[in-house]
Amino acid sequence: MITYLTELDTKGYIDEPIDPTLDLVEEINKLKKEKNAVLLAHYYQEPEIQDIADYIGDSLGLSQQAAKTQADVIVFAGVHFMAETAKILSPQKKVLLPDLKAGCSLSDSCPPHLFAKFKEQYPDHIAITYVNCTAELKALSDIVCTSSNAVQIVDSLPPDQKIIFGPDKNLGDYVRRKTGRDLVLWNGACMVHELFSQERIQHLRRQFPHAKFIAHPECEKELLDAADYIGSTSGLLKYTQESDSDTFIVATESGIIHQMEKASPGKTFIPAPPNNACACNDCPYMKLNTLEKVYNCMKFDLPEVDLPAGIIARAKRPIERMLEISERLGL
Ligand code: 13P
Ligand code: SF4
Repeated sequence: MITYLTELDTKGYIDEPIDPTLDLVEEINKLKKEKNAVLLAHYYQEPEIQDIADYIGDSLGLSQQAAKTQADVIVFAGVHFMAETAKILSPQKKVLLPDLKAGCSLSDSCPPHLFAKFKEQYPDHIAITYVNCTAELKALSDIVCTSSNAVQIVDSLPPDQKIIFGPDKNLGDYVRRKTGRDLVLWNGACMVHELFSQERIQHLRRQFPHAKFIAHPECEKELLDAADYIGSTSGLLKYTQESDSDTFIVATESGIIHQMEKASPGKTFIPAPPNNACACNDCPYMKLNTLEKVYNCMKFDLPEVDLPAGIIARAKRPIERMLEISERLGL
């Protein structure tokens, strides 16, 4: 146990050697049954993890699952703030994250003590925070939102309600344009969604003139202005299924393309290229999770994500408000 804990401190995950003859998919499925565990995976996970998940979804869908699961253990194949959200919604359950270093640049762009100071400047505003933030930040918020429901949540508030929105300035600006409301924005961003190259995308569009260009609202305004459709990962997936088009240039993390290809096998999906030599944009945090780490974390029940009771108590209400509004609006 002591070795494991030291490993967790230095590496962030259990690095126990795994018998190479083991069929990891079979072993993970066995562990799920033995421990009454549910494996939740975000669309940005490696395809092999998505394929053994009990539920694959966007941040809203994953929170809804975490709130209602009957399992004793939630294995979260995603990033740290997602596992924290699951813990806040189901504090009596054990929440495991295969790699504790699976963080988020957007969450890191908003340290809670600085946000608390920022809030003090706007005492007559409420704070809406995008779920991509720490539990401490959620505890400072009035309502949490995801990219699936941010516009509808802002729209559901009285027109004279003043609002601070954080941490994502791109999503905040998008919500501002869609709702016509004057939101005060925190200056944070996701490094993955800010890295797309306009020039390379334009080049691709010239090459595939019939392709639809679709983008996640964490992308910058100039890119969103050029998009045929803007939506959360589940929104983008649904659009590709329902659209008559057969080719799509996809501006979000490339993991989603696995589900797009599964849902529409005859269609072509081209990842929007970033501002470097790579062909697509991967989230370095999301991609820290591997099948081996999922297996070891289920076998050893580590790393576990836990939070102080006070934070859970304060962060729960703004997340529940989001879930209540989403349910009311059928999202
Ligand atoms: P959604 O899951 O809401 O589409 O957000 C994408 C994201 O960046 C998750 O980290
Ligand atoms: Fe965070 Fe961006 Fe990675 Fe999503 S894609 S987890 S917002 S760094």
